[in-house]
Amino acid sequence: YQAGDAQPGPKAIQVVAHRGASEDAPEHTLAAYRKAIEDGADALECDVRLTADGHLVCVHDRRVNRTSNGRGAVSALELADLTALDFGSWKDPYESPDWESWTPDPLERSSVLTLERLLELVVSAERRVELAIETKHPTRWAGQVEQRLLELLSRFDLLRPVDGRSQVRVMSFSARSLRRVQTVAPELPTVFLMSYVLPRYRDGRLPAGTRIAGPGIRILRANPGYVARLHRAGHRVHVWTVDDPADVELCVRLGVDAIITNRPRRVLEQLGR
Ligand code: G3P
Ligand code: CA
Repeated sequence: YQAGDAQPGPKAIQVVAHRGASEDAPEHTLAAYRKAIEDGADALECDVRLTADGHLVCVHDRRVNRTSNGRGAVSALELADLTALDFGSWKDPYESPDWESWTPDPLERSSVLTLERLLELVVSAERRVELAIETKHPTRWAGQVEQRLLELLSRFDLLRPVDGRSQVRVMSFSARSLRRVQTVAPELPTVFLMSYVLPRYRDGRLPAGTRIAGPGIRILRANPGYVARLHRAGHRVHVWTVDDPADVELCVRLGVDAIITNRPRRVLEQLGR
């Protein structure tokens, strides 16, 4: 992003489906991601955690208790344990505003999703879809999350941009996690997530090597001028989690580069797409 570039208009703002179309389907399931693609999302967001036997799975919380019928920490369970659980029944299908017209595959709506399977979906999609992968609690594993992630991305040939565009980016609240990624894969874009802004970053700077800022919407509600500072410092701005139409409006006004939302179809409609 060059200072002085025209700000993206509403139609150029990238719409990113947070945990898939998670207003409609149980978060992080294949059904949620398929729905996001059908709905026209430009990109998908997912959180990744490492299982006890070294598989990266798409789960947000440290434990599986909230989003499955099982109990315990992801890191203490093996992939086979997670595969036996139901990750869909906690969510009422009639909560989906689209429940009348949309009937997902029951297995895809209830199974744990590995990052590998999500990458298969992304690379086989009929149109280009980007993927923003968030490393969760990376300190616990001292680099193993990033190592496994980079191995997988390398296998899918996703470490380098094609025609100047990267299909995948890595996000984290941990600057250390992003540094590990940058050291091995300097061409992979990284997003520094923030739920508040540390004094050293208030002028728009980010940790060295990071190209994109990922502020929470609450930061922008309180301090809308922060977007311009980030842009002046040469960074793109990807904002989470933006579901309220008034917040979408704020993001448009501020000229952010991406909106991360649980309801991609509705945000796209609001943006006139
Ligand atoms: O996209 C960033 C956002 O997902 C960070 O918060 O807790 O939803 O992972 P969380
Ligand atoms: Ca996340």
